[in-house]
Amino acid sequence: MKTLIRGGTLVTEESTRVQDLLLENGRVAQVGESLTDPEAEAIDAAGRLVFPGFIDAHTHMDLPVCGTVTADDFASGTAAILGGTTCLVDFATQEAGETLAQGLANWHEKADGRSSCDYAFHMAISQWRPDVREELPDMIRAGVTSFKVYLTYGNMVSDRELYEVLLALKPLGGIVGVHCENDGIIQATAARLKEQGVTGPEGHPLSRPDEAEAEAIHRLLTVARLVDVPVVVVHLSTEKGLEEIRRTRAMGQKVYVETCPQYLLLDDSLYAQPDFRGARYVCSPPLRKKRDQAALWEALAKGEIDTVSTDRCSFTLAQKDAGRGDFSKIPGGMPGAEERVSLLYTYGVETGRLPLTELVRRLSANPAKLYGMYPRKGALLPGSDADVVIWNPDVETVIHRENRHSACDYAPYEGWRLKGRAETVFLRGEKIVEDGELRRPGTGIYIAREVGSL
Ligand code: URP
Ligand code: ZN
Ligand code: ZN
Repeated sequence: MKTLIRGGTLVTEESTRVQDLLLENGRVAQVGESLTDPEAEAIDAAGRLVFPGFIDAHTHMDLPVCGTVTADDFASGTAAILGGTTCLVDFATQEAGETLAQGLANWHEKADGRSSCDYAFHMAISQWRPDVREELPDMIRAGVTSFKVYLTYGNMVSDRELYEVLLALKPLGGIVGVHCENDGIIQATAARLKEQGVTGPEGHPLSRPDEAEAEAIHRLLTVARLVDVPVVVVHLSTEKGLEEIRRTRAMGQKVYVETCPQYLLLDDSLYAQPDFRGARYVCSPPLRKKRDQAALWEALAKGEIDTVSTDRCSFTLAQKDAGRGDFSKIPGGMPGAEERVSLLYTYGVETGRLPLTELVRRLSANPAKLYGMYPRKGALLPGSDADVVIWNPDVETVIHRENRHSACDYAPYEGWRLKGRAETVFLRGEKIVEDGELRRPGTGIYIAREVGSL
């Protein structure tokens, strides 16, 4: 099967040029000017942008949390391909008492044959034990080369365990992404707020102050320095946390940073809405102040933030209701994978804050490199997977729950204007999205990853 995409503006992390693209047998076959192939289906992409498929390196599909399970599973959640995301890296999770192998098998069962995007797995280590350490080489062999630990929540690791996880992965090359929030501060502040009668969603950000993130980032980076390994700070939300990262980088230490659209675009005033509406925005870390948003945009523009992924972890309004009367019981997380690229395009590229090439770098090339999929993913080089997004930059839409494809029954960006749309999306050469419609759901395959770096 051959496809010739002609006359589009090809955007890579390096350049923006009018070029043709020949796709053959699931791969990029040629990139160049005035390409011809009489056997290929020709697509006129004049006036369109042509991107490598985007990668969302932080999703939680079908994840059990707080006695419930995320609203989106791999079938509904991977409608994210309609927004141009062709590959995601989901957090397979070892539940208490399980081995990593069991966690991985569970995630294959959830995803295999159901995902519309290609998918890979990080492994979230919930219980650090000697037998879990022994499993790490098997994980790497299975293509799971990145791990996550939490410094808060019920499955958090202690500082000693954090040190041991980093040390155990060092010879294997596996990288660890860390949820940085100080659990003690959160528990104590939440208890105090409840004593004072604060029960609604407005208590959520108050119980998780900026300092809780900054302290945990500082601690993580201290431990990583002692072990002498790079680490990933996932979902960075505060200027204070960013300052810790800057101080550490100034010492020559390698640290990778991810943020998410909600920390760039939404702020904590949303928690004060009446009728429990603020629960829709409960996620951890919480939404912050406008000055934090400004600091994150500046860091993104300067290249201090490496990737923008969603941390998509959706719950319906009925599920959020579990926290009526106690904000600490509201399941944390939001939908938003489908609109990630258009949000960054509209509020980053169109506003002049992010060049097109940088959009591709942070949302495609960097996650592919950091997580060991480059140049198979994240590039449009001969031999790369033919994951291609043909983007119409002129289409304007407005986000409404009714035009979203998530199983979640609200849209955090309800009423937001979007510029640009993924018109046609190819996944390994197959046209999966046509005229903005999902034509072939469930075509995604598992991507076993190498050890990566940036
Ligand atoms: O509230 C959130 N973000 N839930 C997802 C789990 C996590 O912390 O990444
Ligand atoms: Zn997290
Ligand atoms: Zn997460």
